[in-house]
Amino acid sequence: MTEATQGMLGRGYYDAHSTFQADVAASGGALLAQAVDILKLPADGKVTVADYGCAEGRNSMATVQSALALLAARGVAEPVVLHNDLPGNDWAGLAANLSGAASYLKNFPQARALFAPRGFFERVTLPGTVTLGTSGSAAHWLSRQPPGLDMPRSLYRSDAPPAELAKLLAQAASDWQAFLAARAEELHPGGVLLVQMLGADGKVSPVRVSAAGLLKLMNECALSLVDDGDIPQDVYAAYCFPVVPRTIEEACAPLEAALADRLELIHCGLNYVPSPYRLALEKTADVAGFAKSYTAFTRAFSETSLRLGLFNFGRGDPGKLADRFYAMMEQALAARPEAYPFDDLTLAVMVRRRGAATPAVT
Ligand SMILES: C[S@@+](CC[C@H](N)C(=O)[O-])C[C@H]1O[C@@H](n2cnc3c(N)ncnc32)[C@H](O)[C@@H]1O
Repeated sequence: MTEATQGMLGRGYYDAHSTFQADVAASGGALLAQAVDILKLPADGKVTVADYGCAEGRNSMATVQSALALLAARGVAEPVVLHNDLPGNDWAGLAANLSGAASYLKNFPQARALFAPRGFFERVTLPGTVTLGTSGSAAHWLSRQPPGLDMPRSLYRSDAPPAELAKLLAQAASDWQAFLAARAEELHPGGVLLVQMLGADGKVSPVRVSAAGLLKLMNECALSLVDDGDIPQDVYAAYCFPVVPRTIEEACAPLEAALADRLELIHCGLNYVPSPYRLALEKTADVAGFAKSYTAFTRAFSETSLRLGLFNFGRGDPGKLADRFYAMMEQALAARPEAYPFDDLTLAVMVRRRGAATPAVT
């Protein structure tokens, strides 16, 4: 089985180049307030906030800080915060962020942070213990490369030929159901989960897929390495960029069927988060700065996956192939800054665990 990723680029690189993901999380502020408002606090007073796919933590700090402030207003004094990500995540970076100036522990010194280094497609903590779950810009990652792919000239949901698209969507559907089933086990009755991820608009034809412009550019750069003989064609054909933006219908499907008895759907909707790199370009007209920052943003989340699936099988040093790939991207963006818009659609899903709360033990 080929893993989708082993995590984001660490050592501060993801933190420094994830302003878009920070903006996505901020766009969910009202939903987070609603989540805390409607959740049932556990009778034993043991409140756990879990952030799924936390990366090295700058953005996780901000989300958790907001969640703890909202919970404090409901009288929660000593919460546990569980940070979840893959084993390959930069956990040392997260630990450093927790003792840094922007840590939520500064404002909530009674909180305690725990780490759960495990894939989120299965349970990562004890059953029935999570009060509030959050997940920002993470649940669109697949668990693995869909088996049997044959996409010699395409990379993503937006450009996959129909038979290959069906394989991507099948993997995305089974992963989403596994993600939600694991959260249904972890949430206690009345606990709430808020997920923000890349979305797609299924009401238009063809389906409008978030980040399609960026993936078009990544495909062009990768194909140029394939055409130069630096990445084997069969390796490229078996690889997709393992992120699948979902439509509202796809996101709701398991909540209306297999998981309907455990999870109550509270909200499922799309919102638009503008690209901060595009906004800066419009303000400053600094094309070189735009190309650099949009490329660094892309590198921060994509390099690990591209190395695992492509560069490690290429000709020569995988690090040099990665450098060439991102240099090509930056050049193309500098030459045609309008040509590859990120064109976001953020999908937010909120669910509440059904079931009666366990009576307090006296
Ligand atoms: C784009 S980052 C988002 C990080 C952070 N939540 C934010 O908003 O900036 C996606 C994160 O999801 C994590 N991730 C991807 N697949 C995962 C999985 N199967 N289990 C746990 N985390 C995963 C990645 O390692 C990465 O840290």
